Amino acid sequence: MKVDVLLGLQWGDEGKGKIVDVLTPEYDVIARFQGGPNAGHTLEFDGIKHVLHTIPSGVFRPDTLNVVGNGVVIDPIIFKKEIDALVGLGVDVAGSLAISRKAHLILPTHRLLDAASEAAKGKAKIGSTLKGIGPTYMDKTGRNGLRVGDIESPHFESRYHTLRDKHVGMLGQFDGFEFSVDDAEWLEAVAFLQTLKLIDSEHDMNRALKAGQRILAEGAQGTMLDIDFGTYPFVTSSNTISAGACTGLGIAPNRVGEVFGIFKAYCTRVGSGPFPTELHDEVGEQMRAEGREFGATTGRPRRCGWLDLPQLRYAVDVNGATQLCMMKADVLGCFEEIEVCTHYMHRDEKIDHLPFGINPDEVEPVYTTLPGWPGDLTGIRTLDEVPQTLLDYVAFIEEAVGVPVTVLSVGPDRAQTLQLKS
Ligand code: GDP
Ligand code: IMO
Ligand code: MG
Repeated sequence: MKVDVLLGLQWGDEGKGKIVDVLTPEYDVIARFQGGPNAGHTLEFDGIKHVLHTIPSGVFRPDTLNVVGNGVVIDPIIFKKEIDALVGLGVDVAGSLAISRKAHLILPTHRLLDAASEAAKGKAKIGSTLKGIGPTYMDKTGRNGLRVGDIESPHFESRYHTLRDKHVGMLGQFDGFEFSVDDAEWLEAVAFLQTLKLIDSEHDMNRALKAGQRILAEGAQGTMLDIDFGTYPFVTSSNTISAGACTGLGIAPNRVGEVFGIFKAYCTRVGSGPFPTELHDEVGEQMRAEGREFGATTGRPRRCGWLDLPQLRYAVDVNGATQLCMMKADVLGCFEEIEVCTHYMHRDEKIDHLPFGINPDEVEPVYTTLPGWPGDLTGIRTLDEVPQTLLDYVAFIEEAVGVPVTVLSVGPDRAQTLQLKS
C-alpha cells in the first residue's frame, strides 16, 4: 500500500481539516507529520464546528487510528486540553490516538522564547502564533530537545530542568523582556501524556502499510510557510511539503501515493510576509467578511487576495500534487467578476513562475478578469447545479497548473462537498 498525503498549497488555512474529515472513511490511519498547535483545523458536521490543533482530523470517525508522528511538536498543556474537550463530547480519544515517542516537546520556556524573539524583532516580527514552534524546532535541530519518549525515563525531570535553566539564561539576554516560569501545569500535563498510547510510529506505519492498511498523512500550515520553499524568513519552522510526510512519519519516498493539494478559490495569509495578490481595499474586506477569514488558532484577521497561479503552480510542483481540492468557491459568489493572477512583472519581464523574492518591490501581479458566479452556492449538492462560469474557472486553473481539480467545496460542512472527478 501507499501513503496518501494531504496538504495546503497556499499560506495555510486552506480547509485541510474539512477534507481530511471527508476522506477519513476511506482510510484506516490519519497521521499528522509536522507542525504543532500553531495549526487550527476546522471540521463541521451535524451543525457543530470543531477546531483541532495537534490531534489529527480523523478523530471524529469511528475505527480510525489517529497518529501524531515524529515530525510534530507537542505542547502537553494544549494537547491535554484538546483531549479533555473531545472526551467531553463523547469522543473515544484514548482508544483512537497514538503518539510517536520521537515527537518533540514544547516547553513553557519555548513559548516564552518565541514571545521574546518576536518582541525583539519589532516591526520585522514573523507574526508567529506564539506557541513556541520556532524555538522547539531550533532545539530539535540543535540537538538539545526533549522528546515524548523521554518522559518514560527516570531522568526526565532532571533533563527538563537542565533545558529549562538554559532557556531561562537565554531569556535573560532579551532586553526588557519580563517573564516568570510556572511549570506545574506543564508537568501535570506531561504525566497525563504518559497515560496515552506512545508508539515507535515509524515501525507501526511501515507495518500498517505491509498489512495493507490505508494511511492518509495530514499536513499543517501550507507550502508558502515551508521552512525551505516558503517566503523565508516569514515561514514556520518545519517542512510542510509532501517530502515532510516522509521525514515526519518514517515513510520512504517510494511509498507516497496520491498527493491531495488543498487550495482556496482565492488566497489568504495570517501573519507577516510577502503576499503578491493581497488586496488592501474593500474587495479584500468583502472576502474576509464573506469567508469569515479569522484565524482558527489566534483569531487574527486573515489578509485576503485573488488567486495567484504562479504561486499555485510552484506549490503543485514542489509537492508533486496529483489532485487538487478547491475550497470556498461559495465565498466568491459575492462578486460579478473574478480576478486571477496569471503572471508577474519582474525586472521588466513578464514571468509565470515564482522568483526568489516576491516582495511588492520585486513582483507586480498581472491579472486576467473572468466572469464570476454571483449567487449562493452553499445549497448545491449535485454537479449539474454548479454554474458554468465556476466550472470554467476550475478548467482555467487546471489548464494553468496541469493537475485535475477533483473536489469542489461550497461551504464549511462535510455535506457541502462535491466530487468533480473520480
Ligand atoms: P485548515 O487549517 O486548512 O484546516 O483550515 P482552517 O480550518 O484554518 O480554515 C478554513 C476555514 O474555512 C474554516 O473556518 C472552515 O470551516 C471554512 N471552510 C472550509 N471549506 C469551506 C468552504 O468551502 N466554504 C466556506 N464558506 N468555508 C469553508
Ligand atoms: P494551519 O495548519 C496559517 C503562520 C503564522 C506565522 C508563521 C509562523 O491551520 O493551516 P509559527 O507559529 O509557526 O512560528 O508562525 O506561520 N502559521 C499559520 N498560518 N495557518 C496555520 O496552520 C499556521 N501555522 C503557522 O501566522 O505567520
Ligand atoms: Mg487553520
